[in-house]
Amino acid sequence: MSASGTTIAKVTTPLPGPKSKALFDRWEKAEAQCAGYQAQVAWDHAKGVVVTDVDGNVFLDWTSGVLVTNVGHCHPELVRAIQEAAARLLNNYECLNEPRVIAAEKLVSVTPPHLDRCFFLSTGAETTEGALRIMKRKTGNYEIVSFHGAFHGRTAAAAAAGGLVGPKKQYGPTIPGAIRAPFPYCYRCPFNAKPDSCGMLCFDLLDDTVRANTTGSLAGVIVEPYQGAAGFIFPPEGWLTRLEAWARAGGMLFTLDEVQSSFGRTGKFFAMEWEGLTPDLVCIGKGIGSGAPASAIVARSEVIGALARGEMSSTLGGNPLASAAVSAVIEIMLKEKLADNALRMGEMMLARLKEIQERCPYVGDVRGKGLVIGVELVKDKATKEPAPDLTRKLIDVAAQHGLLIGSVGIFGNVVRVAPPLVISEAEAMESLELFARALGEL
Ligand SMILES: Cc1ncc(COP(=O)(O)O)c(C=O)c1O
Repeated sequence: MSASGTTIAKVTTPLPGPKSKALFDRWEKAEAQCAGYQAQVAWDHAKGVVVTDVDGNVFLDWTSGVLVTNVGHCHPELVRAIQEAAARLLNNYECLNEPRVIAAEKLVSVTPPHLDRCFFLSTGAETTEGALRIMKRKTGNYEIVSFHGAFHGRTAAAAAAGGLVGPKKQYGPTIPGAIRAPFPYCYRCPFNAKPDSCGMLCFDLLDDTVRANTTGSLAGVIVEPYQGAAGFIFPPEGWLTRLEAWARAGGMLFTLDEVQSSFGRTGKFFAMEWEGLTPDLVCIGKGIGSGAPASAIVARSEVIGALARGEMSSTLGGNPLASAAVSAVIEIMLKEKLADNALRMGEMMLARLKEIQERCPYVGDVRGKGLVIGVELVKDKATKEPAPDLTRKLIDVAAQHGLLIGSVGIFGNVVRVAPPLVISEAEAMESLELFARALGEL
């Protein structure tokens, strides 16, 4: 329920509605069907946290696309910036344009001071590919330490550094030099240890794994501040600080993949701010364009300076339209203090979801920071057997109630609670109510 007692979400047809159904039928005949499972809803338009489908059904959105529309769907200032830029100049490749310079200045100004250069690209995978390349170029070494469960994109080097089966399935052998170590998934700790008393046993295993596998050519580490695709898995406090120190002690460069954790998602502009990390390279995507195709690598100048002129380019990276979007998003983020709102709303939603966890037999774990919260569904809380089928059913039942959710997870059993950062208390409360109702119907 909203503050005024009226409901925002309103679904008046069984899903998919007739117009959605007709679109799905056309789509299946025209495009390859290799996308993940989604609610049976064909989106028509959206504003803030509210999505309307082609049948006129209205939903609250916990997906933000896929953690993209941080400033809210179709924020009017972002739309205006994109429209004005498009009418003026759409592309000039690497030739200079002022929107690109402004966007670069603004981006560098919001990152911690040691990161003083950026480079614009269009997708997250391009930034991780770029960062892997820069780490190798700068050090002259070729081995990359990455993590079980990691997702850095679907292109070749990004997939090789990743620790999920999906992007690599029957695509091997992957690019040599990847050394993958365990990431702390405390809910499913292989040592059956507890984070407050384990002394980070997993860290010893990481060290052992790398020692056993390196040929002496370690270039760097790439890590997500929390693992996104693996199921919104947060390492224990201090683990990332220890990892950075370990990387430095071993003469490696340190890359943070903040493609999804940046732009306010965790309640700070960048997730690295939580522990005062000082990475050499940071990969940024998704929220930076909030819907416009934009991404960037931010780096120390002496590290990204390993690339000489002509060594990195991308046809659409830094084009005037994307650049105008980046500038507008940064201005909106700061003006509306969206990271603070993410923190406030996130704390409230996390507390309520933990209450729901106590009552619901299927909610095994609730974890998160800011507005990135994972709700892990299991068949049985004692055995923790993952419940991917139930998760897919919940996606459909929740949509029928007017709430859009998606799933992630190594086992496909984690509900993504990741609404646009503009969510109000009324929208948060109503969406939680819809979620509880949907869970009750499983
Ligand atoms: C942490 C992380 N890195 C990289 C990527 C790849 O981004 P893109 O799909 O834009 O290539 C993603 C996408 O989900 C991601 O979550």
